[in-house]
Formats: sequence, C-alpha cells, structure tokens
Amino acid sequence: MKKMYLLLLSLITIVVVLVSCSKRDSVVVAPSTSVTLTDPYAAIKANFGTEINPLSWTNYAGQTHPAYIVKDNGINNPIINAKATLGRVLFYDKSLSVTNTVACANCHKQEFAFSDSAQASQGVLGGTTDRHSMRLINTRFAEEVHFFWDERAATLEAQTTQPIVAHNEMGFSGVSGRDNLTTLLAKLQGIDYYKELFTAVYGDVNVTEPRLQECLAQFIRSIQSFDSRFDSGRAQVNNDRTNFPNFTTEENTGKSLFMTPPVFDANSIRIAGGLGCNACHRAPEFDIDPNSRNNGVIASISGANVDISVTRAPSLRDVVNASGNPNGPMMHSGVIKNLGTVIAHYAAGIVNNANLDAKLKPNGRNVQQLNLQAGESAAIIAFMKTLTGKNVYTDKKWASPFKQ
Ligand code: HEC
Ligand code: HEC
Repeated sequence: MKKMYLLLLSLITIVVVLVSCSKRDSVVVAPSTSVTLTDPYAAIKANFGTEINPLSWTNYAGQTHPAYIVKDNGINNPIINAKATLGRVLFYDKSLSVTNTVACANCHKQEFAFSDSAQASQGVLGGTTDRHSMRLINTRFAEEVHFFWDERAATLEAQTTQPIVAHNEMGFSGVSGRDNLTTLLAKLQGIDYYKELFTAVYGDVNVTEPRLQECLAQFIRSIQSFDSRFDSGRAQVNNDRTNFPNFTTEENTGKSLFMTPPVFDANSIRIAGGLGCNACHRAPEFDIDPNSRNNGVIASISGANVDISVTRAPSLRDVVNASGNPNGPMMHSGVIKNLGTVIAHYAAGIVNNANLDAKLKPNGRNVQQLNLQAGESAAIIAFMKTLTGKNVYTDKKWASPFKQ
C-alpha cells in the first residue's frame, strides 16, 4: 500500500514538472516572434531614437509650479504626457509647411525663450511676418485667454493652426495655387511616424485639426519657467510687495517702482509713486491685464502703416536671457532693442491714439510723463532681469525630438 502510494506520488510529480516545462517554453517563444514581426514603434524609433518612447512618455503633466502662481488658462485642455509629446513633434516638424522647410520652431526658438532674434521672421517662399514673433514662456499661467498681439485668436487651441494656414508663414493657405489645411492633414496621415504616434495617442491614425490644436496647445502650455531669482525670493516672503531677502537694494527698489502706481499732477506729469507697470503686467505671473488697451507703441514692423490694435504682451518673464540681453527685439513691431529704450518709451515716448490705455493718459488729454529720477531706470531694469529662468533654455523635453 505504501509502495503504491509513493509510485503514484512520483508519477504526479513527473507530470507536473513536464507540464510546467512545456508551459515555460511556450511563454518564451511567443512574444519574441511577435516583437520581431511587427514593432508598432519602428518609425518612431527610426526618426526620434530614444527621445520619444510611447511605453514611457516624457513627463509634462507632472510638472509643479509655485503655490503663488494661480492663473491658469488651460483647465479645458489639461496636459497629458502622450498628447504634449505629439505636440512637441508637430512643433518641430517642417512637414507642417508647404515647402517642408519651416517648422513652428523656426520662429519660436528655445534659445530665445521661444521667440526670434530677427525683427520679422522668415516664412515659406520669401514670406516674412507682419509682426515680431512672441515668446512662449508660461503662456498657460495667465488670465487672458485670447492669443496673438491683437488677441484675435479666441483660445490657444484656435491659435495653433493659424500659422499653418498663413500664406507668409507655413503656407497652407489654399490661395495662389497653394495647398490648404485639408491637404496637410492627409499629408501628415501618410507619414509613418504619425501613423504610429496618432495610434499610440488616440487609438487610430486619423489626423484632424482639433487633434493638432489639442496637442500643440498642450506642448506650448507645458513650457514653464519658474527657476528665476524672482521665484527664489518670492518663495521666502508672503507677497509680491515685501522686499525679497535675495535681492540687492537696487533690485528691491526696481520691484517697488514696478509694483507701485504713479501719482500725477494735472498735466499728467509724475510727481510721486512708482512707474505703474504692474497695472498691466501683473505679478507674479507678469501676465497682461485682459482689459489693457495699447501702450502707445503704434508703428508697424514695416513702418508703412499705424497699428493700434495691439493690446496683449507675452509674460514679461524671460524678456531677457540669463546674460541680461533681450531674447530678440521687443514689442509687436520689434522696434525696441533694449530695456533702457522700453523705460524711455513709457517715460516720455508714448504716442497718443484712439486705442491708448486710459492709465497712460491720466488727465484724459496728455500722455504720461514719468519724470524719471536718478537711478530709477537702472533700478527697474535690474528688477526685470530677475524674472529670467535657466532650465527652460536647455531642457530637452522642449527641444527638437528629431534625430536630424
Ligand atoms: C514664420 C514665423 C512663424 C511660424 C512658422 C510660427 N509662428 Fe507663432 N508667431 C509668429 C509671430 C510673428 C507671432 C505674432 C503674430 C501676431 O500677433 O500677429 C506669433 C505668435 C504665436 C503665438 C501667440 C503667443 C501669444 O502669447 O499670444 C503662439 C502660441 C504661436 N505663435 C505658436 C505657433 C505655433 C504652434 C506654430 C506652428 C504651428 C507657429 N507659432 C509658427 C511667428 C511664427
Ligand atoms: C496700460 C498697460 C501697460 C502699462 C502700464 C505698461 N505696459 Fe508694458 N506693455 C503693454 C502692452 C499692451 C504691450 C505690448 C505692446 C506692443 O507690442 O505694441 C507691452 C509691452 C511691453 C514690453 C515688451 C514685451 C515684449 O514681449 O516685447 C515690455 C518689456 C514692457 N511692456 C515693460 C513695461 C514696463 C517696464 C512698464 C512700466 C514702466 C510697462 N510695461 C507698463 C501694456 C502696458
């Protein structure tokens, strides 16, 4: 009886071992054949190497920002890593232009805070822009939801496909024999890496305008810069107006001049107070007041006509680079080349016009004269240089993903 029992036990053991061995073999064989036959990311690997990995997307959604940054125009299109990554590819892809030569990044260069050092940017077939390119720093962290210098785009999403169809920018205008947006969508859908990316992100290969807008807007909203000296100071105090412990006396004086409204006499000449910048460029985001009218810079880029429609500025963060030099010429016309000229404009150069902001014409007739005192211009310039970060100029997640 005991012998029978042992025999049965060893028989069972042999069967169990055999079954588990054959199972293990089948597990090893199956996936290795399927991987070599169809790699769903072959074109992604060929074009982007390790820069883009659908099995482990780059982190855009998990970025943090300081607690005192509260304005946010992106709540209807929250950032998802896969979509922001697709936005990154689109932003750097010259296929979005009729000549395959111009990407968004041609005019929005990371090294210049996603603006351009040229006064007018080069588009396709000799086209140039009518206005200066805008920095794309902290675009998400603003109350104003309209985009472009004249706020003609109702949302950032609506903005993102405008350069594609602009005749002088990326050229899919549909006029003078040029292709239109429908042709571009079909063109992109035929590109192997978009077949893989759209499938990974949306579950199918369809390239549509809303998808381009959603992804481009997420990528742009992901571009953030909060490692400035302003931020390390602001983190140590309770509000924007207190002196910052990490600032020089001159920088704190400049901050106070920026934040404090001027006091004017009956002729609109400043007799006390600060320079009033914060009324329109509001700390700590330094976003434009949605109700601002123009600031009295009314030249056009060509000088040929007057442009009074400009009521928006990008955040004043990163208006200069880490060396203190402007990230390109300033204002919609690019006529102002340095911060000294900016201050001189607000002090005594404002041109009266029908769309001038009332704050700059305090008595209703005369434009303001800031009557600058010794050291005031230097102090406010020193302060504006504290608004510049470091990481945003070099972080690879905002750089081109293309191998070449
Ligand atoms: C040929 C140069 C050029 C190209 C290419 C270009 N832009 Fe621009 N971009 C500009 C100029 C110039 C402006 C300001 C135009 C205006 O306000 O009239 C601008 C403005 C913007 C703004 C508004 C920023 C703000 O704060 O209001 C965004 C966002 C933007 N571009 C994103 C893009 C995207 C996305 C692409 C690619 C699909 C792109 N741009 C392609 C030159 C260019
Ligand atoms: C009444 C609102 C208002 C006030 C006050 C104001 N600005 Fe502006 N600012 C604007 C507008 C609008 C623009 C965009 C004008 C343009 O491009 O034509 C602008 C543009 C700028 C620019 C260029 C931004 C760029 O991206 O090219 C700088 C720098 C600037 N302002 C600094 C200041 C400083 C410093 C002060 C205080 C001395 C100040 N501003 C006061 C509304 C204002």
